[in-house]
Amino acid sequence: MPVIALLNQKGGVGKTTLSVHLAAALAAGNRVLLVDADPQGSALDWSAQRQTEPLFPVVGLPTKNLYRELAPMSADYDWIVIDGPPRVNEIAKAAIAASDFVIIPIQPSPFDVWAAEDIVKIIGECMPIKPELVTRFLINRLFLNTTLASEITDAVASYGITPFDTVIRNRTEYAKAARTGLTALETDPSGPAAAEVRAWAAEAQKVMKSTSKPKTSKPKERMHVAS
Ligand SMILES: Nc1ncnc2c1ncn2[C@@H]1O[C@H](COP(=O)(O)OP(=O)(O)O)[C@@H](O)[C@H]1O
Ligand SMILES: [Mg+2]
Repeated sequence: MPVIALLNQKGGVGKTTLSVHLAAALAAGNRVLLVDADPQGSALDWSAQRQTEPLFPVVGLPTKNLYRELAPMSADYDWIVIDGPPRVNEIAKAAIAASDFVIIPIQPSPFDVWAAEDIVKIIGECMPIKPELVTRFLINRLFLNTTLASEITDAVASYGITPFDTVIRNRTEYAKAARTGLTALETDPSGPAAAEVRAWAAEAQKVMKSTSKPKTSKPKERMHVAS
């Protein structure tokens, strides 16, 4: 059961919006758990708005023990998605420790790319003890009918972390989701937001499949999360 964390210490980049959408897309045919690791509890707020049957459970674990608390639950799910905190702190480090895949959402401005430096640095520091960790940037809120400026792609490339081919555009459908506890997959299932979310989730699954190696030991149990 792969664990995917959406992390970036910058607030407002789309961690919560994208976490609920990724969880919703993966929930089509899979058992999914969404973990809210933000002390502000935005993913829990989102699920509390919901008037209809939940697509997946949401648990709040905004704690540096997240890694340990998640372990006994993980066998019950095919995918676990972690909505990260707006800080590079012990919770973010615990989320990295718990994850197979870290996705860093960034908005397409050079400032936002440079603002990801702290989270990129902390991931780099984890690599020696977690060499199997997969990391990708995800461009979020690209304006409609625009292409990615080369200054953005160059800045992203300078980190040595691959961006997803899929780009998420700025669409009101996503903002609507936060208010209703729904996702674009439900409010406009045949619309462009739903299509790009499905494409992103499919790409994430493909990335995980192509990078996962047969397990010979339990490397995670050797991890030590500094406290
Ligand atoms: N692709 C998008 N298109 C339009 N609005 C978006 C998009 N992604 C995020 N938002 C909006 O941006 C705001 C911040 O998003 P949020 O997911 O809460 O960020 P974070 O969790 O990183 O703080 C929210 O109001 C959300 O509705
Ligand atoms: Mg959030």
